[in-house]
Amino acid sequence: MLSYRHAFHAGNHADVLKHAVQCLILEALGAKDKGFSYIDTHAGAGGYALDHEWTQKRAEYRDGIAKLWQQQERWPELQTYLDAVRALNDSDELAFYPGSPQVARHFKRPQDRLALMELHNNEIDILRDQLRQDGIAIHHRDGFEGLVGLLPPTPKRGLVLIDPPYEIKEDYQRVASTLAKAHQRWPIGIYAVWYPLLARAVDRSGQLKQALAKLGFEQVLCAELMVEQQADDFGMYGSGMIVLNPPWQLDSKLAGLLPRLGQALALDGQADWRLEWLKRAES
Ligand SMILES: C[S@@+](CC[C@H](N)C(=O)[O-])C[C@H]1O[C@@H](n2cnc3c(N)ncnc32)[C@H](O)[C@@H]1O
Repeated sequence: MLSYRHAFHAGNHADVLKHAVQCLILEALGAKDKGFSYIDTHAGAGGYALDHEWTQKRAEYRDGIAKLWQQQERWPELQTYLDAVRALNDSDELAFYPGSPQVARHFKRPQDRLALMELHNNEIDILRDQLRQDGIAIHHRDGFEGLVGLLPPTPKRGLVLIDPPYEIKEDYQRVASTLAKAHQRWPIGIYAVWYPLLARAVDRSGQLKQALAKLGFEQVLCAELMVEQQADDFGMYGSGMIVLNPPWQLDSKLAGLLPRLGQALALDGQADWRLEWLKRAES
């Protein structure tokens, strides 16, 4: 049974990193007139009302998007991300936060195609209500299996976002095994994988990075944002995005952005960031 509901975490520091990287990649794809494909393997509900009781329970967005929203002029490099948030809010008050599907829709032009997959019986209904539109296919199915079935997509350039809840450890293995199959079917696609940075006893980010670096992709970039000290037993102290086949200059854009994001979203003096190539082809 699926228990994870993203509404409890909408707009937190992990969403900020994930959606900022998603926007930088979609900006690069949208710079050419030719259409792109966007595939979301774990779409969630689409977008989130911040006054919902689940979101208000821990109000994680206050230490995430709200900090950027208050000083939008300070973030010219995140213009398209903040535009995507602004598109869902009629006033200066931050009332609604876009999930990855709503972010992608913000970039969609008539020539682009979106495919969104979600397994949860309730989330899929909300997703359908929010995202029903021409050029957007919504699938109630397992996103790992579904991805392999959709590759290669048309248009033939594009981004796959893989954002599982990682509540079961199989998710880590499935990310790697699915990407191995995806590489065979669509080696030129851009793939962005979100993962949590957890307490020492339970963290699996190292194994995930090693596994993805060993796949056939020639360029693998990894960006991490740690907002507080790592604990021994439990808790998420940050998150990362691994981008396989990153677009040109994503590394330099992230090198400028991560230190500033780290500072803005820090919860204690141990906040930090890391940007590394897990694999880089010789040029
Ligand atoms: C972290 S949330 C997605 C958030 C969304 N990508 C965003 O950024 O707004 C993960 C979602 O994956 C769904 N899910 C879990 N296992 C899945 C699977 N095997 N296939 C598709 N969706 C799944 C959960 O129901 C949940 O809605």
